[in-house]
Amino acid sequence: MHVVMAADYDQMSRKAAYVVAGRIILKPDCVLGLATGDTPKGLYRELVRLHRSGDIDFSGVSTFNLDEYIGLAPEDPDSYHRYMEEHFFRFVNVPPERRHLPDGDASDMAAECRRYEASIERAGGIDLQILGLGRDGHIGFNEPDVKFEKGTHCVRLDSSTIEANARFFSDAGKVPKRAVTMGIRTIMRARSLLLLASGPEKAEALRGAVLGPVTPELPASVLQLHPDATAIVDEAAARLLR
Ligand code: GLP
Repeated sequence: MHVVMAADYDQMSRKAAYVVAGRIILKPDCVLGLATGDTPKGLYRELVRLHRSGDIDFSGVSTFNLDEYIGLAPEDPDSYHRYMEEHFFRFVNVPPERRHLPDGDASDMAAECRRYEASIERAGGIDLQILGLGRDGHIGFNEPDVKFEKGTHCVRLDSSTIEANARFFSDAGKVPKRAVTMGIRTIMRARSLLLLASGPEKAEALRGAVLGPVTPELPASVLQLHPDATAIVDEAAARLLR
């Protein structure tokens, strides 16, 4: 995995935005894989800025999000649908019919997982997938001990992830216990991967992802096997890489 250093969170976000912007400039109809969480908020802010200045146009772009909680309707304020709306979609011109997130509120979740995989394929596959990093090394919602060969599937969240994500919910007891996520197979099929990590609480997971053995115990370590994976990381997250 190629590692790009950034001084801090804001610089990491800007560097990531330039990478994404470069893709869109070279391929205006590119397919982006998007992530949620705190980490990519700065990236979205920078992309909005580049869009407002007229430098990037999203009218030909398609997007596929990594994951969604099961049991939350798209309009639920805690859903990733709403997160994407609030942090990105309402400020840019990605056509609504080309914005895709798995439906965590579908009546038949197995069918929803198959539908989501098929729609990624129909779009021609993902050109550039953005990834955050869980403290336990998860990517999307692929928790430790994941099976690498899985496509989009439903998961039970680890208690550490439920705890870490409680900060996004008004009531910690409301964090869903299950989620739907692109699998490692889906992620590894993207033509390029861009992992973002910031802050000291990611240092351990980042070390495993970049330097550790490739193991399902640390799902992000599989990224070492991808031919075009880059991590943009700030000093605090990179503390254990030296
Ligand atoms: C969640 C998301 C992941 C994200 C991770 C890290 O569990 N499903 O996609 O990468 O949190 O989040 P944060 O960036 O807030 O640390």
